[in-house]
Amino acid sequence: MTQFLTRSLFFSMFIVFRFCSSNGSDEQERTLGIIKPDGISGNYTERIKQVILESGFEISKEMVIQLDEENAANFYAEHSSKSFFTNLIRYMTSGPVLVMVLEKEDAVAHWRDLIGPTNAGKAKITHPHSIRAMCGVDLEKNCVHGSDSHQSAEREIAFFFKEAPSEDAVSQT
Ligand code: CDP
Ligand code: MG
Repeated sequence: MTQFLTRSLFFSMFIVFRFCSSNGSDEQERTLGIIKPDGISGNYTERIKQVILESGFEISKEMVIQLDEENAANFYAEHSSKSFFTNLIRYMTSGPVLVMVLEKEDAVAHWRDLIGPTNAGKAKITHPHSIRAMCGVDLEKNCVHGSDSHQSAEREIAFFFKEAPSEDAVSQT
């Protein structure tokens, strides 16, 4: 009888432990990744996607889009007063981009880690294994985007995937 009670107690504790730990550790987060025009024209798309998948992200949505000036300016509105803004808009509208929703636990921070610092030239020295070191060139042409916070990620995902862009500008998978 005592043995039965001990076993039942252990079994109950095991169930409670599994329930608590699965609730705490499996929480998925979403972030927005973009392969910028230089990443696409430099044929880095497949290599970048391979790194994404090998790093445990799921690509839950993706879309190729040619941004126009208005789209790009709205997306980067936070930088509208910066000296680099005009060049940034020219860069982001210079060819198609691949926009992706990336999902995993702690996705925002993990994707920022994986892409490396904004200045791709410096990333080649300080973060040689980062994506920006692999395919970026300098402070502007850094080949990928990553949301900088959970709030930005949700806003940026909604920007691309809840609005309905015109059919001729978009091919969605
Ligand atoms: O993309 P990230 O969040 O790392 O950097 P940001 O400060 O939000 O800047 C957005 C984008 O503007 C960068 O990814 C660069 O392409 C560009 N940029 C630039 O051309 N010159 C700067 N001094 C800073 C950013
Ligand atoms: Mg940013």
